Amino acid sequence: MFDKEIYKKRRSVLKEKVGTGLILFIGNEEVGMNYAANSYHFRQDSTFLYYTGIDLPGLAFIIDIDEDKEILFGNELTIDDIVWTGPLDPLTAWADKAGITITKAFKEIDALLKAAKAAGKEIHFLPPYRGRHVLRLQEWLGYVPSEIETQISEKLIKSIVSMRSYKKPEEIAEMEKAVDISTEMHELFFTSLQPGITEKFVEGIVHGHALSTGNNLAYPIILTINGETLHILPRDIEMGKERLAICDAGAETSMHYAGDLTRTAPVSGKFSSIQKDIYNIVLHAQLACIEACKPGVLFRDIHALAGETLLSGLKDIGLIKGDVQEAVSKDVHTLFFQCGLGHMIGLDVHDMENLGEKYIGYTDNIKKSTAFGWKSLRLAKALEPGFTLTVEPGIYFIPVLIDLWKSENKLSQFINYQELEKFKDFGGVRVEDNVLITQGGCRILGNKIAPKTIDEIEAYIYRVNTIHKK
Ligand code: GLY
Ligand code: MN
Repeated sequence: MFDKEIYKKRRSVLKEKVGTGLILFIGNEEVGMNYAANSYHFRQDSTFLYYTGIDLPGLAFIIDIDEDKEILFGNELTIDDIVWTGPLDPLTAWADKAGITITKAFKEIDALLKAAKAAGKEIHFLPPYRGRHVLRLQEWLGYVPSEIETQISEKLIKSIVSMRSYKKPEEIAEMEKAVDISTEMHELFFTSLQPGITEKFVEGIVHGHALSTGNNLAYPIILTINGETLHILPRDIEMGKERLAICDAGAETSMHYAGDLTRTAPVSGKFSSIQKDIYNIVLHAQLACIEACKPGVLFRDIHALAGETLLSGLKDIGLIKGDVQEAVSKDVHTLFFQCGLGHMIGLDVHDMENLGEKYIGYTDNIKKSTAFGWKSLRLAKALEPGFTLTVEPGIYFIPVLIDLWKSENKLSQFINYQELEKFKDFGGVRVEDNVLITQGGCRILGNKIAPKTIDEIEAYIYRVNTIHKK
């Protein structure tokens, strides 16, 4: 946990912003995997962590703004719990670490909320993303599940977004840690690659590093020779020597801040000529987009810059023809780059996404597009100092998508479909780093950057495999 003064300060700012009523935060609970005693890895709710730092299941927290009271609700361990899980500090000790002075048994929250509602007090709560929370809200506040959406506090959402979007030095230090562990995971990815090894085997090595350093994964690892499938999970299949492998893997520190990096490397350790071409197009786009990240610039425009840079590279190798800017305006790039250029990152890998993308990445004036490709852009608004985000352009040759567009002769004035046939078994390339927006521009997070140019990647794989493994 951070120092209690940090949590107290955050809560006092939040109270000021929300103004009146009660704020209800529901912590996460253990979820049974196949029966109650065998649960999934516990992950505390990120907003609960942001305002209390308490990383335990089965809690709720209320800030009564009008009465100036903060109450942590939870149950002390019974002797039966201790027999199975071991002793734990009492709730009062956890509350103290967070600077909270009142604790109550969990069941007492019910009467308190019912009384507050009966007295006509405003009760602010966030959109629930777990079924159990929906049931809690129904039980405590009497809303049927279909009604809950209409009762969510926009004021609370906006207040939280206006705080969590700007990372403070202590948070940036945690994010640097997350990126450093993620970089080490990618170094292991590079040096574990060899023809015939399975995707799952390499995933195990990469995942193991996160665990063995006392950290965890920020999201399920994407590690595959079919990088054109954006969120494919590793399979028990051997990687062929002629393929490129993508590794999209990020660590989550014990304080739950995330890293999110992607590197692409040849399974053989050496890029072929055409792999070099496509890789360099993506790398060039990534560098141009990072260069463009500065306060005041719309991330939507940087996404368009990615499209333009990618298409211009694809034109150089004969896959695209015509005017590149016109092609981007007609969304030709979405045949190759179907997702967004990046997203906010912090306590969540897609930071605050549960609060609603329209509040995180968009504004009243910058609305989300529903067009293919653009609808997957999670961040579009103007960048500001303190934002942390990913920059992750890619080129993905998706055979069914190519076939579909080709069957419709779609935008054929820009696309050389005949040449494109040769790329239907190419796969995909993505390069991703995490950046902090500063006053004058941005900087890449992490104390070192995982090998990124072709020379760096080939040299790194060669050096570790031939020297260190001898
Ligand atoms: N790294 C996974 C994602 O950005 O969705
Ligand atoms: Mn990402």
